[in-house]
Amino acid sequence: MRIAILRERAAGETRVAAVPDSVKKIIALGHEVVVEAGAGTASSTPDALYEAAGAHIAPDAASALQGADLLLKVRRPTADEIAALRAGAGAVALMEPHGDRALADAFAKAKIEALAMEFVPRITRAQSMDALSSQSNLAGYRAVIEGAALYGRAFPMMMTAAGTVAAAKCFIMGAGVAGLQAIATARRLGAVVSATDVRPAAKEQVASLGAKFIAVEDEEFKQAETAAGYAKAMSADYQKKQAALVAEHIAKQDVVVTTALIPGRPAPVLVTEAMVKAMRPGSVIVDLAVSQGGNCPLSKADEVVEIGGVKVVGFSNLPARLPADSSALYAKNLLALLPLLTDKESKAFAPAWDDEIVQGAMLTKAGAVVHPSFAAAPAA
Ligand code: NAI
Repeated sequence: MRIAILRERAAGETRVAAVPDSVKKIIALGHEVVVEAGAGTASSTPDALYEAAGAHIAPDAASALQGADLLLKVRRPTADEIAALRAGAGAVALMEPHGDRALADAFAKAKIEALAMEFVPRITRAQSMDALSSQSNLAGYRAVIEGAALYGRAFPMMMTAAGTVAAAKCFIMGAGVAGLQAIATARRLGAVVSATDVRPAAKEQVASLGAKFIAVEDEEFKQAETAAGYAKAMSADYQKKQAALVAEHIAKQDVVVTTALIPGRPAPVLVTEAMVKAMRPGSVIVDLAVSQGGNCPLSKADEVVEIGGVKVVGFSNLPARLPADSSALYAKNLLALLPLLTDKESKAFAPAWDDEIVQGAMLTKAGAVVHPSFAAAPAA
């Protein structure tokens, strides 16, 4: 099949869905790859490297999509891109699909077989395709680096002839994939690290990384994990108790990284305005949840807001701030998914519709919206 890779159009998006190494491997699987000119520029990959890997370079998106059987992207395709695809072609991206019936309808209407990387089930066999994890991991790392850069003091303790520099106190809220990498990064930089989460399983993971676990551990906490391993929304009563504990702890922290998310729902508020005001001037809060409403109500997308000397950082796309690595890992995720979208003999685009992974990720099939998350919402 012919696979198209486009230059991303979303504002601030520097990633790309294929890197020269993945292009080489896709071609070795018997496919053809067309890359739009400039697709890799923002991640420091010039067209010549794609060409050397065996890709054709198309001058623009429309010509890259001409005759394509499958479009691979980082972000969801634009209306123009959907219109340029032939009926029956596939599209795979981080679709931001939660509750977006209009997006699913647009794919169905154009008869595009669309798969959302966010919906790839988190089963062992699909680990190599788990783009949420690959991107969250890098986001967690980068959040600490951003926090450290904006913090006007050092992270590690240093004993010098001119005096001792104290270690920074770093608090990570939400110990999922991003949070655990944030803990590990802050520890490597020499900070004193603590962390919290509402999933009981997180307690041991936090401790194994050498950080202190901070949480109200009542009966509700012990039950607070879904079968898929995600956090549940907590009761108002639990949130109140947890907020009181956190308020006391946060006032003594230098850098706070918040990563708490509940899939498909607004992010829980964990750091209130009062808590921010109780922090010392010079402290930094990095809010990874800013695009889902934020864990701190003061954070603003793609801004550093300063309140009473405390910086609240709201970079909405942290993986895009290290695009070479995030593109390479995302491209690997797509490469791992590819065999499930290919007919073994003919190498044609042919999703394995009865495979659990394809079923989990597919939004549309043959002109119909099929993902169960849209079952309650009728077509527009
Ligand atoms: P996420 O991005 O949905 O959320 C981040 C973290 O915030 C989670 O740990 C969540 O429990 C926490 N959180 C939510 N509400 C909170 C609150 N009010 N206060 C404090 N923390 C709160 O989660 P992510 O990173 O996608 O991971 C979720 C789980 O899935 C983890 O247990 C992870 O280890 C597991 N996982 C399993 C995989 C597999 O089996 N293939 C792959 C990747 C992750």
